[in-house]
Amino acid sequence: MKSVLIKLGVVVGLAIGAVALTAMNTAAQDSEPPDEHTVAMREKLEQAQLLLEGIAREDFAVIQHSAEELERLSIDAQWMHIESAEYGDYGVQFRTAVKRTAKMAREKNVEGVTMSFMQVIMSCVQCHQGTPASGEVAMLFPQPAVR
Ligand code: HEC
Repeated sequence: MKSVLIKLGVVVGLAIGAVALTAMNTAAQDSEPPDEHTVAMREKLEQAQLLLEGIAREDFAVIQHSAEELERLSIDAQWMHIESAEYGDYGVQFRTAVKRTAKMAREKNVEGVTMSFMQVIMSCVQCHQGTPASGEVAMLFPQPAVR
C-alpha cells in the first residue's frame, strides 16, 4: 500500500512540476504586476501542492481542505470570467475534478483522491495548453465510480 502511494506521489509530483513549468512560461511573457487571475492561479498552485502533501501523508483533513479551497477558487468571480471567455470546458472539467477530490477525501478513499487529483492536474495542463478537452485523459486516468 505504502509503495503504491509513494509511486502515485512521484507521478503527481512530476505532474505538478510540469504545470508549474508551463504556467511559468506563460507568466514570463509579461512583467506587469500580477492581476487577479494570476493571483488566483498562484493560489491554485499552492493548494495543489498542499493537496499532494496531504496525499503523501494520507491526511484527509488537509486533502479535503485544499480540495475545497480549489473548488472555491474555481467559482471565484474573476475565474468565471476567464472561464466563460474561451476556457469553458476546462473550467467545468477542473471543477468536476476538484469536487470529486473533496468527496473522495470525505470518504477517506486515498486512491480515489489520487485518481481525482490526477484529473485536476490534467485539467490545469490542458487549459494552459489549450488542447481539446477530449475523453483521452478520462481513459488514461479512469475515475472511480461515484457512490
Ligand atoms: C480554465 C483554465 C485554467 C485552468 C483549469 C487552470 N489554469 Fe492556470 N492559468 C490559466 C490562464 C489563462 C493563465 C494565464 C493568465 C493568468 O495568469 O491569469 C494561467 C496561469 C497560471 C499560473 C501562472 C501565474 C503567474 O504566476 O503568472 C499558474 C502558477 C497556474 N496557472 C496554475 C494552475 C494550477 C496549479 C491549476 C490547476 C490546479 C490551473 N492553473 C488550472 C488558466 C487555467
